[in-house]
Amino acid sequence: GGIAQSVGTGLLPEGARIDRMLAEAHAHAARHHEGRVADYIPVLAAADPEAFGLCVVGVDGVRHEVGQTATRFSIQSISKAFVYALVVDHLGHGRVREVVGVNNTGLAFNSLIAIELHDGHPRNPMVNAGAIATTALMPGADPDAQWEAVREGLSRFAGRPLAVDDEVYRSESETNQRNRAIGQLVHSYGRIERRPADVVDVYTRQCALSVDTVDLAVMAATLADGGVNPVTGERVVSAEACRDTLAVLATSGLYETSGDWMFEIGLPGKSGVAGGLITVAPGKVGMASYAPRLDAAGNSVRGQIAAAYLSRVLGLNIF
Ligand code: DON
Repeated sequence: GGIAQSVGTGLLPEGARIDRMLAEAHAHAARHHEGRVADYIPVLAAADPEAFGLCVVGVDGVRHEVGQTATRFSIQSISKAFVYALVVDHLGHGRVREVVGVNNTGLAFNSLIAIELHDGHPRNPMVNAGAIATTALMPGADPDAQWEAVREGLSRFAGRPLAVDDEVYRSESETNQRNRAIGQLVHSYGRIERRPADVVDVYTRQCALSVDTVDLAVMAATLADGGVNPVTGERVVSAEACRDTLAVLATSGLYETSGDWMFEIGLPGKSGVAGGLITVAPGKVGMASYAPRLDAAGNSVRGQIAAAYLSRVLGLNIF
């Protein structure tokens, strides 16, 4: 059965048409060769710039895919969305908003100026400062327990046990002076209660979790499904935590170009520097892509083009 039949909304086309639309979205976006593979984390520079996978998973768990959907890559900043959902689920709406915030910084994801401009307040959980402050709020008596809670939580979103890509973890650990500075700076304002070096290490591991495009689509579909993984049937986070997460993705999921994204796609989304990108159509589908060439803000070029195409042909724009 296709997504439309099983969801029963009548708003999405049946399976064969979705397959065709996915193939068209893939072909359309594959004509674009602009953008650059990230290299500030050295190992990421080795990615195949032409790799391109696209997958959608409905809230009924039905999946459609095209291209290199089994290629593994590191989740990077996309992890921020799911760690945030886990933390909100754990601590509630108000507390996390107070500590981390929900507003766009208008500046790059690794900006230090953004932190200084607001008395050390990270502004939102999708920039590195806010993500590090969010990871610090994960339950667990020590960094290992916090890490295990992150790994286990993100695995429940994906519906399979996720593991770290050690090469990516090592490469980023050796070159993450800037994130360590961000951790120290936010800590100096009293906004991280744990040892910042430990928190940044957990954050670096979380970014190095290895996924493929299908994993990301299932994770996105879990957010589309109000916090229930539509493949495993497990509730991962509350509907409230899921809603809060989608609101933050809408304001800040693509950093300072979140406005451009919302204008073109009209759905919450989240990017990662390895080239992953998720898009969530609440109540309908999760979409994911892998295409490593990025624009200047650090967002996948082909991923954005494919998401705009699919949002339009599937009528998903929430506005
Ligand atoms: O902390 C970093 O810089 C990376 N681990 C993640 C950044 C990222 O994915 C930004 N995304 N588009």
